[in-house]
Amino acid sequence: MAPLPLPLLLALAGLAVAAAQPFFPPPQQPATDASDAAALSAVFQRWGLRYGPTVKPGDPCGTRDWPGSFARNASVGCSCDGSPVCRITHLNVTGFPNLTGIPPELFSLTELVSLDLSNNNLSGSIPQEVANLSKLQTWHFNNNKFSGLLPNESSRLGSLQSLWMFDNYIEGQLPEFIANFTNITDLRIYGTKLQGPIPKNFSKLTNLKILMLGDLDGGNSTFDFIADGANISILSLRKCGIGQFPSTPPNLPKLTYLDLRSNNLSSSIGQMRLYGGSSYLYVGENNFSGPLPSEMVQSSRGLDVSYNPLLNGNLPNNPPDRKWSINYIGTSIDASRIINSKNLTLLNCLHMKECNKFNTKPITSFAVNCGGKQRISSDPLPITFDDDTSILGAAGFHVNTDRQWVVSHVGSDPFTNSSGPGTISTTQVILGTDMPDLYQTARTSRSALSYYAIGLSNGKYTVQLFFAEILIDSQLNNGTGRRLFNIDIQDQNIKRDFDITKEAGGFGRPTNITREVTVDNSVLKIHLYWGGRGTCCIPYEGAYGPLVSAIRVFRPESPNNSPPPARPVSAPSNDDKRRGVVAGIAALCIAAAVISSSVVYLWWKWVALVKHPNA
Ligand SMILES: *[C@@H]1O[C@H](CO)[C@@H](O)[C@H](O)[C@H]1NC(C)=O
Ligand SMILES: *[C@@H]1O[C@H](CO)[C@@H](O)[C@H](O)[C@H]1NC(C)=O
Ligand SMILES: *[C@@H]1O[C@H](CO)[C@@H](O)[C@H](O)[C@H]1NC(C)=O
Ligand SMILES: *[C@@H]1O[C@H](CO)[C@@H](O)[C@H](O)[C@H]1NC(C)=O
Ligand SMILES: *[C@@H]1O[C@H](CO)[C@@H](O)[C@H](O)[C@H]1NC(C)=O
Ligand SMILES: *[C@@H]1O[C@H](CO)[C@@H](O)[C@H](O)[C@H]1NC(C)=O
Ligand SMILES: *[C@@H]1O[C@H](CO)[C@@H](O)[C@H](O)[C@H]1NC(C)=O
Repeated sequence: MAPLPLPLLLALAGLAVAAAQPFFPPPQQPATDASDAAALSAVFQRWGLRYGPTVKPGDPCGTRDWPGSFARNASVGCSCDGSPVCRITHLNVTGFPNLTGIPPELFSLTELVSLDLSNNNLSGSIPQEVANLSKLQTWHFNNNKFSGLLPNESSRLGSLQSLWMFDNYIEGQLPEFIANFTNITDLRIYGTKLQGPIPKNFSKLTNLKILMLGDLDGGNSTFDFIADGANISILSLRKCGIGQFPSTPPNLPKLTYLDLRSNNLSSSIGQMRLYGGSSYLYVGENNFSGPLPSEMVQSSRGLDVSYNPLLNGNLPNNPPDRKWSINYIGTSIDASRIINSKNLTLLNCLHMKECNKFNTKPITSFAVNCGGKQRISSDPLPITFDDDTSILGAAGFHVNTDRQWVVSHVGSDPFTNSSGPGTISTTQVILGTDMPDLYQTARTSRSALSYYAIGLSNGKYTVQLFFAEILIDSQLNNGTGRRLFNIDIQDQNIKRDFDITKEAGGFGRPTNITREVTVDNSVLKIHLYWGGRGTCCIPYEGAYGPLVSAIRVFRPESPNNSPPPARPVSAPSNDDKRRGVVAGIAALCIAAAVISSSVVYLWWKWVALVKHPNA
């Protein structure tokens, strides 16, 4: 082979150098620690999750480009500072309802400072190996199905600053070792099966800014666990079995939201004067007594003192300009200076629990289009569903004087600076009912919603509650959004963790509840309330709590002739695309069923009309 001329050689050498240039590594971050990379890979593999296209399997820290959205996320964060390799410090896998367990390899990621596994479907006990993650500052496993005890080993997580475990089936005593997490600023434990009392040594948690405990059965808690609340701005202790308020209440100078609803607090309301500066004050369903301090009324954006029977005093007669947001139903507060006498009569019925001696007219039915405008059903016998569009704010009620019913609401989300929509509506087509518009509006609440019919003649009644989920479309959110709430009628629980979507078989589908009840004191009470369960924030922060589309109450004609409930015809499923003979026969059957049930219904209506022309 002939030697190449020197100039050509030089040129080639130059090209080679130029070509090699990009391969001289530019100063870049070190690669991921090999054991972290292997552990993460095993975790993702067990969960059936794949890395995005920009992630190098051996170097997951080499990209920041993790796909994710508010509703679904599988991503890591790393720390590469001052170390020859990058360590995985943040792991966030949220919004996968098909994930049912934690892969053991996860507990080898010992440099984790933040672990967010919320909104999955994780079940079983929390593994004791969690103690290996001793650097954790953030640990969120809310909205899963974990059960069993919180393992004692988790007491070693002394660096925790944020612990969210709401909406799980964790049981046992609320563990005392949580008091070891003295750095904690944000603690949220509600909607679980944990029992009270709240340990006294929680007083060591002096860095708290947000404390949300709730739904603790058993145990009589006292307020001793709040010693120094200097940094607390959100304090929610709904249904914690707290009895006496301390004679020297804790000073909470930064408080903006206080929820003490559904405890057994038996103090003078005057003691709450200290918290009059808080924007939202919920102390309903307790035993507070004495006159309501006017400073509490003046400054608040939402004040709930309802159902404290011994609470009295006058409402100030100079309400601030903005609409008052106060709910004092079920108290002895004298509101005669601000509301008309008919309304007062009706409200007194709710407090006194007997109405006969008051000047109400006897009624035998009532119907409301919750959250919507008046709607007269096109049945042969028209039923008027009354308008229910009044804005109730963060706490309030509305009295329908003519038709003698009351709607009452309390609740706001501490993390959204608004009382929420209260009434909602949709243009979504509601299938499987002949009254779709009834379901296209609804009233919601972040805590408690009650409807009362007042002055009912005593006797048996049929109560129909109409529901359709029109806000949380879980299909749009990978199946992660869940609304769960409880329903009581006449103080009897009839549904716990009621899930409209599940009952109805999907989003935007109707489902009804029908119950026979007895009224013996002229008042019928329907109470829908949140019990800490379900998702908080899908599709947006504050999307939780009871929702109801309409209510109808009427007298059953006779025990053997109770009316057919307006039960929706089950809707055809969307993905059923089959055609032909089978579908044709099915359609004929459905049509026949609809026609025959309509005939029965018409017949019944006709009988009702003949027998009771005023029904
Ligand atoms: C869970 O769902 C995700 C997204 O649909 C999928 O990528 C993954 O493979 C599933 N995992 C399992 C264990 O089924
Ligand atoms: C995890 O990701 C979700 C969705 O991006 C986000 O809302 C959440 O704050 C993240 N968790 C943590 C602890 O950063
Ligand atoms: C969630 O887990 C339960 C068992 O705890 C299982 O029955 C259900 O199918 C799971 N959901 C999904 C979407 O995989
Ligand atoms: C947890 O840590 C212990 C010792 O600190 C170790 O023996 C064990 O392998 C770790 N577990 C996991 C799952 O990494
Ligand atoms: C309140 O928070 C500040 C800063 O976050 C901290 O310096 C202070 O110690 C906290 N107060 C108490 C009583 O812990
Ligand atoms: C509520 O407190 C009263 C005393 O104020 C007590 O008699 C009653 O047993 C308590 N109720 C519950 C459920 O703890
Ligand atoms: C809430 O809004 C009011 C008025 O819009 C404002 O004065 C207040 O500072 C806000 N609070 C928070 C916590 O954002």
